[in-house]
Amino acid sequence: MSQDTKKKNSAKAAFDLIKPNLNKDSVLGIGTGSTTNFFIEELNSADIDIKGAVCSSISTEKNLNSSIKVLGLNEVHSIDFYIDGADEFNDRFELIKGGGGALTREKILAYSSLKFICIVDDSKHTDLLGKFPLPIEVLEIARSAISREIMKMGGKPVYRNGFITDNGNQIIDVHKFPIKVPFELEEKLNNIPGVVENGIFSNRKADVIINAKEQGIDILEL
Ligand code: A5P
Repeated sequence: MSQDTKKKNSAKAAFDLIKPNLNKDSVLGIGTGSTTNFFIEELNSADIDIKGAVCSSISTEKNLNSSIKVLGLNEVHSIDFYIDGADEFNDRFELIKGGGGALTREKILAYSSLKFICIVDDSKHTDLLGKFPLPIEVLEIARSAISREIMKMGGKPVYRNGFITDNGNQIIDVHKFPIKVPFELEEKLNNIPGVVENGIFSNRKADVIINAKEQGIDILEL
């Protein structure tokens, strides 16, 4: 089975899970990435009547069809279900996100949601987060200073050349950076001046992980 088939299966399982709970007042949060795009395909072809969706990126907004109203986060009280992929997940439902560069808005939506459903496939499971380079969104003027701080912490920062986030900032991907205590590192990185956000999702982790495997789908709840 290809990884794309697993991504599609995970996305479909997420849609099947939430569908019975949707009504005209429901607000969805929609993340960014190839797995989430399969979820958007489900949503676009579904016969549902919801209040609308808050998106974590401009690209996700563009992928939604006109049957789903795009809402700003300031227009809603909360998000009922936030659906998004991840680059890595562990058994404690902690994640690395931001491979697509949308980590800041993704974290804001995750924090604003009542239930965060993370759609992944088994290739993304890890015991120790950090094999996937950790994305950090930074203000341009602080990029070199932040990179020096990260080197002192033992990581190898690589500037994501030519990439600008939807917020107008830059991304540093940190290689060779095993994340032993995710919630501590998440806070520590965000305390470096000029860091906008980092891709560790530990303080607000997933509530549900839908993990698509060769043999079927695991729906894991915290
Ligand atoms: C986007 O910024 C990311 O957080 C994605 O959710 C993550 O990179 C997973 O992407 P794929 O579903 O494309 O693997």
